[in-house]
Amino acid sequence: MTDAKLSLAEKDFGYPVLSGSVGPDVIDIRKLYGQTGAFTYDPGFTSTASCQSKLTYIDGDEGVLLHRGYPIGELAEQSSFMEVAYLLLNGELPKGDELNKFESTITRHTMVHEQLATFFRGFRRDAHPMAILCGVVGALSAFYHDSTDIHDPTQRTIASHRLIAKMPTIAAMAYKYSVGQPFQYPDNSLSYTGNFLKMTFGVPAEPYEVNPAVEKAMDRIFILHADHEQNASTSTVRLAGSSGANPFACIAAGIACLWGPAHGGANEAALNMLQEIGTPDRIPEFINRAKDKNDPFRLMGFGHRVYKNYDPRATVMQKTVREVFEALNVSDPLFETALRLEELALSDDYFIEKKLFPNVDFYSGVILSAIGFPTSMFTVLFALARTVGWVAQWNEMITDPDQKIGRPRQLYTGPTARPYVSLDER
Ligand code: ACO
Repeated sequence: MTDAKLSLAEKDFGYPVLSGSVGPDVIDIRKLYGQTGAFTYDPGFTSTASCQSKLTYIDGDEGVLLHRGYPIGELAEQSSFMEVAYLLLNGELPKGDELNKFESTITRHTMVHEQLATFFRGFRRDAHPMAILCGVVGALSAFYHDSTDIHDPTQRTIASHRLIAKMPTIAAMAYKYSVGQPFQYPDNSLSYTGNFLKMTFGVPAEPYEVNPAVEKAMDRIFILHADHEQNASTSTVRLAGSSGANPFACIAAGIACLWGPAHGGANEAALNMLQEIGTPDRIPEFINRAKDKNDPFRLMGFGHRVYKNYDPRATVMQKTVREVFEALNVSDPLFETALRLEELALSDDYFIEKKLFPNVDFYSGVILSAIGFPTSMFTVLFALARTVGWVAQWNEMITDPDQKIGRPRQLYTGPTARPYVSLDER
């Protein structure tokens, strides 16, 4: 095994270099503090691998995203969200009977405890659906005590299935609550995604027909958001789980982290930005603002910590916009604005030099809005899909023999020890 050499205070130290199946090597610095008394400093973890994982691989320079080795483009085109969920959870694509069994298990967990409806009613009518989602998912541990023992593999599996199955129901309930319509019960005759669409847009007064093209597009959007390596919300789920917290609490922590505009909130922010830009003639003004160091404005849906190339999910998303428009026989001038914005930004030196490309959120807002979702629901949909990844990553963490409670250190720059000064002497 190769060693990485470190010289510190005239002493030499060696650290093993570990290789994954693909991707950059990592320097194993677990013994660094014990041997040198020094920590590493890496705000934002730009150079730190926090765990080993077999789930998802990203090559940001090449724009590659693989789940268990399978390229995201192939999964989005050829598989279903349930298949991808099975793949992420179990490591292999399911055979026919395995998929049927998995789908039927998930379907049988879609209903939520009836008392949960009362819990919803405690929220203000104008509450953001992400606030509701975060609160309700956290509360699931109070409703499903029998699947909170993280040391019991059967309970972990049941909790995982419950989270994946109930998330569409809860997301749809958050939507229904915000528009003042009655909650819809799940319909077990429908697919995971068809059922979600019915619970969201169906009303008791008339039958709801799931549009197959919308169902397919929505399912693909879920696939595109299913997992994404050790991003902020996934790391939050792992960190929360590292203390032994129950899975429902961990996923609620992930939802809270996802909400931020630098992460899952960017799809909402991207559509708001496109609306603010309005027509293509105003694009240069916004590009100039994004380039201005004194202006906090950024092009939302642009740039990524890992991708320094086109986000492969954005490619599929852009194609899906056209399919949805065709199926619904609609168009949206904002899509033209988005295409033009992409074109202008990608030919601008600022964006070229900084390797800023559209990310998954750039086009998703245009599709979701065509399907009928208000912008406040966009991040909820992201959370719904990402629950699969969070749950798979959480399970992987719990069974990792190297797993320890997450506890970063710091570079302390505050005052050194000083005596307490009484109130009358300050
Ligand atoms: N518009 C304008 N400039 C940008 C943008 C942008 N969208 N993104 C990055 N930059 C610039 C920064 O100002 C910085 O410039 P500098 O080096 O001159 O200071 C440089 O590019 C690097 O940016 P950082 O913020 O240091 O990069 P980081 O990896 O920390 O951030 C992030 C990545 C948060 C995604 C950033 O690109 C961003 O804020 N994008 C807009 C929000 C967004 O779309 N988020 C969704 C991400 S995908 C997801 O979560 C699913």
